[in-house]
Amino acid sequence: MKAVIQTKSPSETIRLGKRIGGLLRPGDVVALVGELGAGKTQFIKGLAEGVGVGKPTYISSPSFTLINEYPGRVPFYHVDLFRLEREKDAEELGLEDYFQGDGITAIEWADKIPSLLPKEMLLIHIAYTGKNSRSLEIIGKGKHYEDLVKGLPEFGIRNSEYGVWNAK
Ligand SMILES: Nc1ncnc2c1ncn2[C@@H]1O[C@H](COP(=O)(O)OP(=O)(O)OP(=O)(O)O)[C@@H](O)[C@H]1O
Ligand SMILES: [Mg+2]
Repeated sequence: MKAVIQTKSPSETIRLGKRIGGLLRPGDVVALVGELGAGKTQFIKGLAEGVGVGKPTYISSPSFTLINEYPGRVPFYHVDLFRLEREKDAEELGLEDYFQGDGITAIEWADKIPSLLPKEMLLIHIAYTGKNSRSLEIIGKGKHYEDLVKGLPEFGIRNSEYGVWNAK
């Protein structure tokens, strides 16, 4: 199950993240993949707001810790693996505990830890399509996440607001 949504500004990407954040349940995992400056952090700002963390500006990329924890409607964990050199180095981060816990976890550069990612998750590929435009491919892995992607149009996430919408 997959949806592709185009955004035409950073604030649209944040708004999309917020909508999706509002649909997440405790324990959910969102993995983000995309080049430097693709918009992963922008999306996560919105996601955090949707989860109930507070203002999107509150979120910044974790620096030395790789993981930032925010209280919210449910705890929100922002993992940024940009500085991770080897997948093996992620083993000591205790990611499994985050994935299995009741918080919501969002991971930037998730492609750096292919074998550590949970089998079921929301996987989002963000691609640069122009100076202010991005294409977000939203893939549900596992039934819960497939249902989430299937339900996006019902929650108003569709053509009129974000441009092209291809659910299949
Ligand atoms: N439609 C858009 N959606 C998101 N960001 C956009 C968009 N158009 C332009 N931008 C700009 O692209 C940049 C995205 O930066 P952001 O930090 O979110 O990327 P990132 O994927 O997290 O990068 P990094 O890998 O360095 O962490 C910002 O400067 C933002 O203003
Ligand atoms: Mg980032």
